[in-house]
Amino acid sequence: MAKIILTGDRPTGKLHLGHFVGSLSRRVELQNTGLYDKIFIMIADAQALTDNADNPDKVRENIIEVALDYLSCGIDPEKSTIFIQSHVAELTELAFYYMNLVTVQRLQRNPTVKAEIQMRGFSEQGEEQENQQRKGTPVGFFTYPISQAADITAFRATTVPVGEDQEPMIEQTREIVHKFNSIYGPTLVEPEIMLPTNAACLRLPGTDGKAKMSKSLGNCIYLSDTADEVKKKVMSMYTDPDHLKVSDPGKVEGNTVFTYLDAFSKPEHFEKYLPEYESLDALKDHYRRGGLGDVKCKKLLIAILEEMLEPIRERRRYFEEHLDEVYEILRRGSEEARMAAADTLQDVRRAMRINYFENTDIMQRR
Ligand code: TRP
Repeated sequence: MAKIILTGDRPTGKLHLGHFVGSLSRRVELQNTGLYDKIFIMIADAQALTDNADNPDKVRENIIEVALDYLSCGIDPEKSTIFIQSHVAELTELAFYYMNLVTVQRLQRNPTVKAEIQMRGFSEQGEEQENQQRKGTPVGFFTYPISQAADITAFRATTVPVGEDQEPMIEQTREIVHKFNSIYGPTLVEPEIMLPTNAACLRLPGTDGKAKMSKSLGNCIYLSDTADEVKKKVMSMYTDPDHLKVSDPGKVEGNTVFTYLDAFSKPEHFEKYLPEYESLDALKDHYRRGGLGDVKCKKLLIAILEEMLEPIRERRRYFEEHLDEVYEILRRGSEEARMAAADTLQDVRRAMRINYFENTDIMQRR
């Protein structure tokens, strides 16, 4: 069986370092292993609209931002197909049939959707009366796990590299595949989730030490930040609030600078930038003992981040000057994705025997 990857992002903002360690760098690695027959990377604009119906401009503007982020990180359109979800109309038809295989009750149990409904202040079922201010949950938002199952199965994806918050979506997709195949005969491919491997990369905290980078908290380092912006953000990064004087012993756990060093530093960085320490462990030991200042650690982090970000910025500059190329990549990718999804949709219609105009069964009255 072909090994196929499908993954994607909602275009609701520029991508940041959290996306980079959590997913982008992994995609580039997977792309370059050559182990996959096909890689699809989807800009999930239709999914982004499920909670941004009143702000399609935001979604539209971020499509190009996300595409630039992909290309500048090294996603290669020769090896990976980048496409725009809303331009693969077949996905909505698949989702429409899958909707009949999922119950409202099952959707209500999806923990990620539950958490997102809370976060967005949409009312939960049965709580409407409690607070008149609540906006209610858009049906499209509530059902997006089904649409995500369509995204995955349309491309016969075997492998879906995503963060752990997406686990319930893959689980629902697998349930839909089972149900479909058991009713209509073996048709759809069952996907496997591929979670990030590096523990330090599972969730990068914001520069303020808060659990997650988030645009609304203003604690992100963006892939498109200039060297100056990165420097400023790192210099004001949260460390150990009790580490006041250089001579004070410091805490490494929960210290954002060290969390980032855990995620980004490699052994060779020490020889290159701080030869007096042979490893990150040696640096941590000194910090714990006291006598090592935050600024020195921050400067190391800046050097390491710059080494990583500068080539990304350089590719971004190229694509920003060649937006017509980016546009063409998206157009061609979406076209290719459509053909792949149309193929699956044809299988689905045949399996359900709703392919009325492919044969004349419908004319045989029984
Ligand atoms: N829900 C994903 C996110 O918020 C985006 C997404 C949509 C996706 N469809 C997908 C991811 C299919 C993987 C596969 O990040």
